[in-house]
Amino acid sequence: MPPFAEARVDLGAISENIAVLRRRAPGSEVMGIVKADGYGHGMLPAARAVLAGGATWLGTAFIEEALELRRAGIDAPTVAWILPPGAPLSEAVGVGIDLGVSAPWLVDGIAAAAREAGRPARVHLKADTGLNRGGVVAGDWRQVVEAAARAEAAGLLRVTGVFSHFACSDEPGHPSIGAQLSAFHEALEVAEKAGLRPEVRHLANSAATLTLPETHFDLVRPGIASYGLSPIPGLTGTGLRPAMTLRSKIALVKRVPEGSGVSYGHRYITDRPTTLALIPLGYGDGVPRAATNAVPVFAAGKRRTIAGTVCMDQFVLDIGDDPAGDYAVLFGTGENGEPTAQDWASILETIPYEIVTRISQRVPRVYVGGQGGR
Ligand SMILES: Cc1ncc(COP(=O)(O)O)c(C=O)c1O
Repeated sequence: MPPFAEARVDLGAISENIAVLRRRAPGSEVMGIVKADGYGHGMLPAARAVLAGGATWLGTAFIEEALELRRAGIDAPTVAWILPPGAPLSEAVGVGIDLGVSAPWLVDGIAAAAREAGRPARVHLKADTGLNRGGVVAGDWRQVVEAAARAEAAGLLRVTGVFSHFACSDEPGHPSIGAQLSAFHEALEVAEKAGLRPEVRHLANSAATLTLPETHFDLVRPGIASYGLSPIPGLTGTGLRPAMTLRSKIALVKRVPEGSGVSYGHRYITDRPTTLALIPLGYGDGVPRAATNAVPVFAAGKRRTIAGTVCMDQFVLDIGDDPAGDYAVLFGTGENGEPTAQDWASILETIPYEIVTRISQRVPRVYVGGQGGR
């Protein structure tokens, strides 16, 4: 029996999006970013789909995510870059996961993990070029590079990559972009002078992959664009296709008179006798409560704004006198009249990343157009 609600994920779209991005960065390899359960699409199917599309690397935030890829038999080079104290470094080194280095103490920690694992670690030194989030600050960079070079000479690790991450690449023309690019070139020069010869130097996220060719280096790291969503609202002509469609059966319809208050708080009042349709998805499934009386949903032949408060498990649509049909589509490709995750994000003053990533595990992912399976 099909689920009453589903996040339908078109794996073919993910593979094709990677192919589109490869054409944008023809001289570079592509790292598919599959952290946060593949931006909500399902990490393992997303990983297989990006690799099928021509990505040669994978990226995760945490080692645990990368270990799950390995356990599933996915052995593409994979970088994990958030390594809090206590992260399972030697387990990661043992299965050849590349580790992002954001602090001096991590060089020693990873060298110790390599001794324990009995094999050299693969590391990517991460320069903080101005994001001031992860990454080694400029004042510590030389020290980290030299420590890594010593550990490399001792056979404890291999510096496979040097990388950084943009703060404002989604704001074309932002002055920090040029400043970060220059800082990255300087960081690379320091690494080179210390004798490091990384296989891959990488800086570009989705926005930079799409709009800043001078930032592509050896490898680009598009995340959101792989899932067909634009990192820059309003950027057209990308050729990307949203991979996730969130839809639900209509659980119930009922006729109500004019003046009926709908859902908690009666924040919507019917202005005529009308039909209400109940959609069994709520904030427990990842539909933001802020979507109350705000976001569109495609149902009964057209877009309707959610009527009244989004509850934990359900919300209501006012479909007038139209026949309800079987399904409502909350967001999708936009090709059949339904809103997109970007439409929701714009209304909710957030980014499409948050819309797709927050769809909870209560909503089954249903895979089409690829190998699927988890
Ligand atoms: C280090 C790093 N690279 C790449 C990405 C992918 O970014 P985007 O989804 O904007 O392409 C992220 C996402 O947060 C990241 O942290």
